[in-house]
Amino acid sequence: MNESDNNENSPKIWSGAGPDEVAADLRPLVDFRDEGLPLKELEKMLEKRLVPHLVRYDRPAFHSLYNFIPEPGARLGGELALRWNQGVTNWIVSPGGVMLEEMCGEALCRLFGLGPDAAATFMYCGTYANQQALYLALHRAAERRGFDLARTGISGFPDPGRLAILTSADAHFSLRHAARMLGMGENSLIPVPVDADRRMHSGALADTVETLKGRRDIIAVAATAGTTSTASVDPAPPVIEVCRKVGAWFHLDAAYGFSYKLLPECAPLFKGAEEADSITWDPHKNFGVPIPNSVLFVRERRDFERMSIFGKYFNREEDPEPNPGLKSPPSTRPLSALPLVATLRHLGVEGMRERLRGPFRAVRKLAEYLRGEPDMEPAHRPDLSLLCLRVTPPGVPSARLDELQSYIHERIKREARRSLSISRLDDRTVLRLVAISPGVTFEALRETIDHARELAADWRREQGL
Ligand SMILES: Cc1ncc(COP(=O)(O)O)c(C=O)c1O
Repeated sequence: MNESDNNENSPKIWSGAGPDEVAADLRPLVDFRDEGLPLKELEKMLEKRLVPHLVRYDRPAFHSLYNFIPEPGARLGGELALRWNQGVTNWIVSPGGVMLEEMCGEALCRLFGLGPDAAATFMYCGTYANQQALYLALHRAAERRGFDLARTGISGFPDPGRLAILTSADAHFSLRHAARMLGMGENSLIPVPVDADRRMHSGALADTVETLKGRRDIIAVAATAGTTSTASVDPAPPVIEVCRKVGAWFHLDAAYGFSYKLLPECAPLFKGAEEADSITWDPHKNFGVPIPNSVLFVRERRDFERMSIFGKYFNREEDPEPNPGLKSPPSTRPLSALPLVATLRHLGVEGMRERLRGPFRAVRKLAEYLRGEPDMEPAHRPDLSLLCLRVTPPGVPSARLDELQSYIHERIKREARRSLSISRLDDRTVLRLVAISPGVTFEALRETIDHARELAADWRREQGL
């Protein structure tokens, strides 16, 4: 086995079975019976029937999505929470958990260089964090028009159809969910074109604002720091300028990208992030902590007051203790702060930087390597740990290149020795390589590229090209 552990002799990273086969294996697990099973037997059953069908995120050949095995410190924290108090909900169920979450939130604001009034709350996922951020934006827009969104709802706006949120054309679909759930509808989202590096185009942003003048009310601009498709980081300064000009809320969806703000070499990409009214960050994507672990930051802590609903037996207004459960809707909430605190203390901030840096450098090196290869076409310059590319062997007509990328992706999926993803950028199909796990080295990525070349040769033979 060579050093990258990503070659034809490597074990599969999952069974590679199809849906029918997986279902047949799992059926006995859901055969709920009156009698129980001894733990040992149950464990054996799970190992045999389920585990082969779970993908090994820790393997160097896994580079498709934002998944990562919790590192030992995070696991210690996660197990401790399961053993003692997995729910943090409020002071009654977990005084230590409440205080840890509050203090961890404050420490994170400092770690990321946010302003003195910034605050954080833990969320289930980036999708909900984005939704809450846009709710806060809408709430502020309502206040400025003199009504309380929480009571009146969206009908308080004289013409809700005018409300607009500008996003990058490459923004994550969770913003569409948010627009739907908030009753604004997807028509409220106005996509701003991206530039050659797939960052929000500042000229196009200014043009969009100009075009909408007098016709729509821009209540927010949602930029992305680390887009899902290419991990591109939208520059904040032009967004800040627009938000100031039209009085809009600046939301930064940095679900994947914010971790990289800790790397001095990436910090310039995040210039101005501290001015965002809200920031979504998903430690469960690349911080090595168990899911769920997402954070919503706000620039002004009082913004969270807009979320509070007090109860008579629970979350009482007169209770003097801190209550993180008043900053977001769920009552039952996991103690996500504990694994995050544990991993940061175990690795140290510098250790965390090193974990992020290894795969990040591997992607940079891959991009450099590909630039010199005539049969490879990087689709963008990588801002962070992700690169999309096309395999473009000489002699293949450009009209058939989409087909070739799909073929490579499908073959790799069936072989189950590696994992990469596929996407569309504008009208082109691209292969997408994500480096999250510290095991993803340049060599491992290179071997996947070499294998993609072999598969491209197979396809050409099959097609007679
Ligand atoms: C930029 C971005 N925002 C939001 C999300 C949604 O996060 P979650 O999967 O935690 O809901 C993702 C997920 O990949 C993402 O890439």
